[in-house]
Amino acid sequence: MFKEVDIERALLWIEPGPVTLVSAFDGKRNHVMTISWTIALDFAQRIAICTGSWNHTFDVLMKSRECVVAIPPVSMAEKVIRIGDISGRKVDKFKKFCLTALPASTVKAPLIAGCSANLECSVIDHLENYNLVILQVNKVWESKKTERSKMFHAFGDGRFAANGKQMNYRELMLDKLPPNL
Ligand SMILES: Cc1cc2nc3c(=O)[nH]c(=O)nc-3n(C[C@H](O)[C@H](O)[C@H](O)COP(=O)(O)O)c2cc1C
Repeated sequence: MFKEVDIERALLWIEPGPVTLVSAFDGKRNHVMTISWTIALDFAQRIAICTGSWNHTFDVLMKSRECVVAIPPVSMAEKVIRIGDISGRKVDKFKKFCLTALPASTVKAPLIAGCSANLECSVIDHLENYNLVILQVNKVWESKKTERSKMFHAFGDGRFAANGKQMNYRELMLDKLPPNL
């Protein structure tokens, strides 16, 4: 279902700012929250998510110091928004939303089946004043059926858009890009 790809490809999933699902494991069960505030920080696979203890999954990922950032396709949009509308403190959202958890290889947090990509991450810093959790991506898995155009983005007011028309200015940027991107 997923294939491991070059770690540098992590950037291609976070830079466009898609709505993501972030999973974590507490030793007994899996947890998941919807996160649209993500930031690509550099070409060294460091990314940030903005969240805090108002979310149960944040507490779990800060204790375990790891998580998976999954990029759902637009076909999962309604489910992803519903996942972001209830707390998993008492409810097993994997069961409630029929999510299939698959084993990751560097973290205990699960990959999420049906997503276009899953990034295995370790927590490397926490800028508490800004609610920023800094993550190091350890491994990138892409769906064998991935079409990059199918991620979706939040406008911030309850409206969302799927990726639109793409423009290719690669030639102008080649001097800035790592060789395998
Ligand atoms: C579209 C969408 C985007 C969201 N983005 C964020 C975000 O970037 N940061 C955040 O802290 N919460 C965000 N949320 C809210 C959490 O997903 C929500 O509080 C969730 O219920 C937390 O679940 P948990 O308590 O089981 O971890 C978002 C919710 C939705 C629907």
